[in-house]
Amino acid sequence: MNRLETIKSMVTKCHTVADIGTDHGYVAEMLLNDNIAEKIIATDLNKGPLNRAIEYLTSKNLSDKCDFRLGSGLTVLEKNEADAIIIAGMGGDLISDILHTSKNIAITTKQLIIQPMTAIDKLRKYLYNNGYKIIDESIVKEFHHYYFIMNIEPGYEVIEDEIYYEISKHLILKKDPIMYKYIDKIIDTNNKIIQSLEKSDNLKYKIKINDLINKNNKIMEILKYEA
Ligand SMILES: C[S@@+](CC[C@H](N)C(=O)[O-])C[C@H]1O[C@@H](n2cnc3c(N)ncnc32)[C@H](O)[C@@H]1O
Repeated sequence: MNRLETIKSMVTKCHTVADIGTDHGYVAEMLLNDNIAEKIIATDLNKGPLNRAIEYLTSKNLSDKCDFRLGSGLTVLEKNEADAIIIAGMGGDLISDILHTSKNIAITTKQLIIQPMTAIDKLRKYLYNNGYKIIDESIVKEFHHYYFIMNIEPGYEVIEDEIYYEISKHLILKKDPIMYKYIDKIIDTNNKIIQSLEKSDNLKYKIKINDLINKNNKIMEILKYEA
């Protein structure tokens, strides 16, 4: 499955889905065509992308099932208006800002699906420390890029180690083969950085080298532990 199909597969059939930052409107199209949603609230901060979604969904004869809204994050939604909310294709910092700004909306929806493009570890840290639980997670590789799609809900979960901000506990427990490839890439990248920093005598780099060695050891340790 590709990124958009995986996002779609995480949504349980319901009445209204809000697609935040809809842009092209492809997620809305997939959810309506597969009868996963009866209605989509398609939103975007910017007029250009919102007009793109309006044009595209109109061309697919789906616009009568869509409510298009211009505005930031979840501020365009009322409490309990959407059964599911999707925030996909944005930076991890922006997603945590959106969740933080409208926590009253976020925690009252039945399903919350997020897919960050960057700062994945910072976003997981935000979730674990701000009253959200990750209840499921998928990884997808498209054109050498790894995407993480998370199903989250309000709640608290204690994680045993901060390494789980960077390395998804769910994906390790699932023994997802793509996750193993992702971990190989992380370890390989860390080793390359270590090798290049080892050429310098700078104390600052020695600390960084130690951090990276410890990180790689920790990753190997949790892989053995969860095996
Ligand atoms: C890269 S597109 C992602 C499109 C689609 N959601 C996907 O996953 O393929 C990001 C979209 O988010 C919109 N956006 C950025 N900040 C936003 C915010 N605070 N609230 C709503 N939309 C936002 C942008 O205008 C852009 O259309």
